[in-house]
Amino acid sequence: MSAAGVSGSAGSDGSVAVPVIAIDGPTASGKGTIAARVAAHFGFHYLDSGAIYRIAALAAMRAGADISDESAVAGVAQRLAVVFAGEQVLLDGQDVAADIRQEAIGNAASRIAVFPLVRQALLERQRAFAQPPGLVADGRDMASVVFPGAQLKVFLTASAQERAQRRFKQLLEKGISVKFEDLLADLQARDARDTQRAVAPLKPVADSWVLDSSSLDIATVVSAIVQRFEALRG
Ligand code: DC
Repeated sequence: MSAAGVSGSAGSDGSVAVPVIAIDGPTASGKGTIAARVAAHFGFHYLDSGAIYRIAALAAMRAGADISDESAVAGVAQRLAVVFAGEQVLLDGQDVAADIRQEAIGNAASRIAVFPLVRQALLERQRAFAQPPGLVADGRDMASVVFPGAQLKVFLTASAQERAQRRFKQLLEKGISVKFEDLLADLQARDARDTQRAVAPLKPVADSWVLDSSSLDIATVVSAIVQRFEALRG
């Protein structure tokens, strides 16, 4: 994720002066890898908005806040001292890149993400990533809330079974052993929370391009998005 200043080039309504590709989708849909590769292809900045929610969750936990207390978590979210430096994610000067990838932090992120005050506190921080020459942003509400003026809005999906299988394989490769059934159940619980929450739920917008990647590999999805964006730009 590239570093971003405090002020961005997105207006308060989310209108953007630089090209933005929004990629939304459920957990383990592959959107992070795909978004990063599309960004690299065009030389654009990349925003992993899920990382911002994960950092806020971790910071709240480290501050001893009750993560079911909306105003306490929103207070932490507002004051986040975070710097993205290459592969490093510095929270209060300490690299937390590996910590925020833990399943427990992903679950906590999904819990705090239901709070409107937390989402509001993180909004401008996300919009600040819209810097020339362009941005690829991935998350749940990139097209609907954060960058409604995005030139291309992709809704990337895959079946829960397929996504759980991909995550299972990744964890095995890292030497982390989990029960497949537990992983699938966690993923379905997260899907339910992310799609059914009252504020900024995960869902395609009217002008989203819905892509089901269940039977597609990463390279195929990346080139489909690249081609679609090039066609739009003319
Ligand atoms: O994409 P991820 O798994 O890293 O995201 C972690 C959680 O953060 C996800 O379960 C819901 C929340 N999130 C969100 O509500 N809105 C976003 N734009 C990105 C993530």
